[in-house]
Amino acid sequence: MGKNALITGITGQDGAYLAEFLIKKGYIVHGIKRRSSLLNTDRIDHLYQDPHIEKRNLILHYGDLSDSMNITRIIQECRPDEIYNLGAMSHVKVSFDVPEYTANTDGIGTLRILEAVRLLDMKDHTRIYQASSSELYGLVREVPQTENTPFYPRSPYACAKLYAYWITVNYREAYGLHASNGILFNHESPIRGETFVSRKITRALSRIVLGLQDTLYMGNLSSKRDWGHAKDYIQAMYLILQQEQPDDYVIATGVTTAVREFVSKSFASLGIELSFKGEKEKETGKVISINDALFTEKAGRHYLDKFKSRIRTNPLVVKVDPGYYRPTEVDLLLGDPTKAREKLGWKPEYDLDGLINEMVDSDLLLMKKENYLRDGGYNILNYFE
Ligand code: NAP
Ligand code: GDD
Repeated sequence: MGKNALITGITGQDGAYLAEFLIKKGYIVHGIKRRSSLLNTDRIDHLYQDPHIEKRNLILHYGDLSDSMNITRIIQECRPDEIYNLGAMSHVKVSFDVPEYTANTDGIGTLRILEAVRLLDMKDHTRIYQASSSELYGLVREVPQTENTPFYPRSPYACAKLYAYWITVNYREAYGLHASNGILFNHESPIRGETFVSRKITRALSRIVLGLQDTLYMGNLSSKRDWGHAKDYIQAMYLILQQEQPDDYVIATGVTTAVREFVSKSFASLGIELSFKGEKEKETGKVISINDALFTEKAGRHYLDKFKSRIRTNPLVVKVDPGYYRPTEVDLLLGDPTKAREKLGWKPEYDLDGLINEMVDSDLLLMKKENYLRDGGYNILNYFE
């Protein structure tokens, strides 16, 4: 018989990819979704099955990581072989606005899962994956970061995740739970939340090219991240739970890139060359050349002349808005995934260019849909952060 998995955060980027991956492996996947006033299952609607179907392989439960009884009941009901605790208030900048909520969900939420498994006497049945984060390294103590690098969190999000990391280790050592941390570095995809920097860039680029937006306003362009593709990273989560012994692993590509470079690469993927000038909030990114053939191949001839004429009057497509700065920044993340490669046999398939290409292609397609609607007389809204 197939295994049962429970995914918290199933409606998020990683939850959606992981659910699809596990269903393909023959799992019955249970997921916790939050009640919201609008439907929030866009990312998993393609996996959804009518509740009247017998033998479903995707079953959703209403719940919230801030509700101990709800979490305990769901675990009791579905008796998962594996729990992937991906649910979290996952936006670092927003965590400065909602620090207590973040601590409750991202920190104590993890305790609620561990404690439920312990109290229900399921520790020999259920393996637990905790979504830890490279944000734990914060003001980094060494480069690159490994499983042994000391932590120095720089946000309420990272402080909450620090508690979650250590309580996972503690339950493993104190009670013998099969509980592991994946210390994942940034991973993105076409379904990444729109307010994370990668997706903000690829969406804005697509809108600028199609004439739906003039300027991309950015925060700190100089910070560096080790970016991978979420599809590669969810496989690491799975591998971590297949190990006989629970343990903690860094999951990263081993390459770091500045945010500015991510912007340049994204524009370059459509044949648009940018040049950056100025410092801090005075910095701007200007279009200095266009490769007509590449632009036409990717975006379509239809948009080329219009884009060129807009650029003649407004070539400064990237500007800085200090409103996006964080009170304390994480300047540089670079992971060393040697342990994961050697013990799990994990290796990412995507490089940064492949990731960016996929994200830009996907957002261009989405924004073209917006454009058709606008041309058809519908009111198009932008969802700025
Ligand atoms: P995401 O897209 O923001 O998804 C977060 C998920 O958590 C969503 O399903 C969200 O539900 C759910 N959630 C939020 N608050 C909750 C609560 N109180 N109770 C239950 N569920 C709640 O994040 P992601 O990128 O997939 O990341 C998955 C996990 O990995 C997170 O824990 C994140 O902190 C961690 N992580 C991510 C990265 C990365 O680069 N992506 C790197 C390291 C660690 P709604 O859809 O209803 O909002
Ligand atoms: N979001 C955002 N918006 N970030 C910006 C912007 C902007 O306009 N301009 C510059 N940045 C910089 C941020 O200051 C940060 O240094 C970097 O871009 C990446 O920001 P995010 O994409 O928001 O991700 P993050 O690194 O803060 O956090 C993500 O990765 C963590 C793993 O390291 C999230 O997914 C976390 O949940 C995850 O733990």
